Amino acid sequence: MISEKMLNAINEQIKLEFESSYAYIAMEAYFMGKNLNGFANFFHVQAQEERDHAYLLFNYAYSVGGDVVLKDLAAFDSNFKDEIDIFEKTLAHEQLVTRSIHNLMTIAIEEKDYATQNFLQWFVKEQVEEEDTANGLLEQIKLVNGNPNGLFMMNKELAARTYTPAVIK
Ligand SMILES: [Fe+2]
Ligand SMILES: [Fe+2]
Repeated sequence: MISEKMLNAINEQIKLEFESSYAYIAMEAYFMGKNLNGFANFFHVQAQEERDHAYLLFNYAYSVGGDVVLKDLAAFDSNFKDEIDIFEKTLAHEQLVTRSIHNLMTIAIEEKDYATQNFLQWFVKEQVEEEDTANGLLEQIKLVNGNPNGLFMMNKELAARTYTPAVIK
């Protein structure tokens, strides 16, 4: 049985993962509007993964006897200045999610909830990857600096990203 404090924190994280999904859909829309379909594909896949993260937490809550409470989602400010702005916001958002996951882990440790600590390890690792990817793409888009050839190349590269459902083994 999970503590109320732990369950509340998990419910907050479910909201944040769905908000992440929504944020990446906003970015997908920006690139669709610019006919940069490779970039749009990257964020489409990203949004699908965030939905998976929400469902991993959703299913975990039920597996430990908790109930999920779906909260209102905050809209993401989608007034993007340019491509660099988008990748800066992506990195900042992932850093926010990392802090939130670490906060969940702190609660699990305080509560001596070993099952949740074990479950959260996957998210801790995932956030290292998420920040690394966001950081790499931010560096790349800064190098491109609006150059059409660079954007074309990067668009082609990002078009190759495929979706693999997230599973915790
Ligand atoms: Fe996530
Ligand atoms: Fe993420």
